[in-house]
Amino acid sequence: MPDRNLTGQDAAKEDILLEVKHLKKYFPVRTGFIRKTDLKAVDDVSFSIRRGETLGIVGESGCGKTTLGRTVLRLTEPTDGDIIYEGQSIIGKDMKEYRRKMQIVFQDPYASLDPRKTVSDIIGEAIDITKSASGKEERREKILQLMQLVGLNPEFYNRFPHEFSGGQRQRIGIARALAIDPGFIVCDEPVSALDVSIQAQIVNMLEELQETRKLTYLFIAHDLAVVKHISTRIGVMYLGHMVELTYSAQLYRHPLHPYTQMLLSAIPIANPDISAVRKRIRLEGELPSPLNPPSGCPFRTRCPRCTSQCCEDTPSLREVEPGHFVACHNCG
Ligand SMILES: Nc1ncnc2c1ncn2[C@@H]1O[C@H](COP(=O)(O)OP(=O)(O)O)[C@@H](O)[C@H]1O
Ligand SMILES: [Mg+2]
Repeated sequence: MPDRNLTGQDAAKEDILLEVKHLKKYFPVRTGFIRKTDLKAVDDVSFSIRRGETLGIVGESGCGKTTLGRTVLRLTEPTDGDIIYEGQSIIGKDMKEYRRKMQIVFQDPYASLDPRKTVSDIIGEAIDITKSASGKEERREKILQLMQLVGLNPEFYNRFPHEFSGGQRQRIGIARALAIDPGFIVCDEPVSALDVSIQAQIVNMLEELQETRKLTYLFIAHDLAVVKHISTRIGVMYLGHMVELTYSAQLYRHPLHPYTQMLLSAIPIANPDISAVRKRIRLEGELPSPLNPPSGCPFRTRCPRCTSQCCEDTPSLREVEPGHFVACHNCG
């Protein structure tokens, strides 16, 4: 049976590695002396990822990208919704088995590595989880192989994280994730903290690793320019909601949601001729607080196309052309 399930194409069920259905993550936050309010960091998000693809996720800081990535891995428990990995719901399951299949590369390579451990300790501990090395020598060999795989000099075997640059630290983080030999990796803004000159190297390496190790990525970025190249498809988030989801090329060629159009118009273009003629759409107004989101459509307070319906009904993602989903009453 073909299955559309927000994969963007008729995909056989076995082609889908991960399916996220109506995922919600609410944080109870104290807003007064006694009063508590739910901060809706992720609010009813659904998507599927096919084996071998990269789903890019973009949106402004605070829109819920990290929470989405962490909740998908159950590093934080979802408030509601379902997460299906290889055809099985992982909700309520012992995550031990899944920790070997699903990994994360963190945004901050400085904070995510234990400063008291050497590179070989950090990678070695990950190898120990899978018990894939039978002796000390094999373990050492595996650590060296992984270091080489991510472009780290084997001579750095006994060095500590503070002895490395940001880019090198992120390579350590990637080696640690790969040590478990996962099928799926959440890359949470893996290059945002790095110098622009280093970013492409790391992104290219992640792409090569995807090919050779048959990986599937959820690749988070706050910048559309970074995800364009690496992503098969891209989902755009706003205030905890997924507002548009389609193929990478389609998103750039034919963005439908007014928010996506605004994000795209903010990307600098190298060619000044194109820059001059391209209409820049200003993102008006402030990002509302997720503690007090607008009624109806989350984007309506900043949207040039807002109508009375937008104040009342929250638009859900609908497919407006094959594989192109948008949550808007007035577009598509
Ligand atoms: N542990 C937490 N407790 C309360 N609020 C949180 C927590 N983690 C994240 N948030 C809030 O959830 C929203 C989404 O945060 P996050 O997922 O980090 O966004 P992004 O990664 O897109 O910048 C923000 O408003 C943030 O303040
Ligand atoms: Mg984040």
